[in-house]
Amino acid sequence: MTHKVTLIPGDGIGPEITESVVRVIEAAGVDIKWDRQLAGIPAVQEYGVSVPDQCLDSIKENKVALKGPLTTLVGKGFRSANVTLRRKLDLYANLRPVKTIGGVPSRFDKVDLVIVRENTEDLYSGIENIISPGVTQAIKVVTKEASDNISRFAFEYAIANGRKKITLVHKANIMKISDGLFLRSFEEVAEDYPEIKAEDKIVDALCMNLVIDPTRFDVLLLGNMFGDIVSDLAAGLVGGLGVVPGANIGNEYAVFEAVHGSAPDIAGKNIANPTALIFSALMMLRHLKEEDAATKIWKSIVVTLAMGNHLTKDLGGTLSTTEFTDELVKEISSRT
Ligand code: NAI
Repeated sequence: MTHKVTLIPGDGIGPEITESVVRVIEAAGVDIKWDRQLAGIPAVQEYGVSVPDQCLDSIKENKVALKGPLTTLVGKGFRSANVTLRRKLDLYANLRPVKTIGGVPSRFDKVDLVIVRENTEDLYSGIENIISPGVTQAIKVVTKEASDNISRFAFEYAIANGRKKITLVHKANIMKISDGLFLRSFEEVAEDYPEIKAEDKIVDALCMNLVIDPTRFDVLLLGNMFGDIVSDLAAGLVGGLGVVPGANIGNEYAVFEAVHGSAPDIAGKNIANPTALIFSALMMLRHLKEEDAATKIWKSIVVTLAMGNHLTKDLGGTLSTTEFTDELVKEISSRT
């Protein structure tokens, strides 16, 4: 069967790693008709807006997109295209599995966490004001509806994927009203899922516990900002940003992307690790019910990484993006 999928190459290392993913999926024999669309800086340069209507229309038609990273300028410029996409498509759940992979040098064995991050509100609502010169404020928005939705998503995910425990992460000791609402919503929803253990942790304590022993955790449920920060921390526990995938999921659409950003420091050098985006594409293939191809690619990556001499620079190896992709394609083809 032919799938139609929107492909947003992004900027920075985005075009290099999305090209790698396209080759890998083709090698696995999945027939995808990619509809290439611009977003972020390339879209601003071409159309004057960071998320053009044709990009949104394409995702709405295809229901599924694979996205490279998009640079968001610090302290100036247009609103984040990532935030815009997530809000306009109501991609309220951000799912980030963080798992130890054999062959990837990392601090811990046997990490197997899933981060569920609320994706539409919190301090990322983009409501910032200058009260008077030298005085600013940013507003943290937390609604009962979004909190209930993300909690229910996390419990349903846990049940569907054989998970046993969810840890809700918050700062309700300080932000008693906003994070207090997030926590209460979680506790209420948890009552409908007695088979899943529900606990909560204050974010600072959680960070300390994670770096001491991440194997104590199963599913972590966080608001938008803590989810963003803790995702990168968790990536560091299993080998770094080059290997951690993600998915933005709503009731109608799904956009798959790596946790990492556009890595401007290595862009254009053909040294980025495409693994995180390839893993994101595996999540996409499972979403498209291409289970066999996803398993074939997964096994091929595990074998390729385990060889030890087939690593990109971020993992201590010497292979370029294209050399790593060549090795992976070779491994996949040998299984076809
Ligand atoms: P970053 O994730 O782009 O890079 C952090 C560090 O990790 C850099 O040293 C980079 O070289 C390295 N790195 C990241 N991905 C890698 C890969 N695949 N292979 C090898 N090394 C990799 O974070 P940074 O520098 O804070 O952000 C750069 C830009 O990306 C910013 O404009 C930020 O807003 C944007 N960003 C976009 C995201 C998205 O599109 N979903 C997510 C996070 C950041």
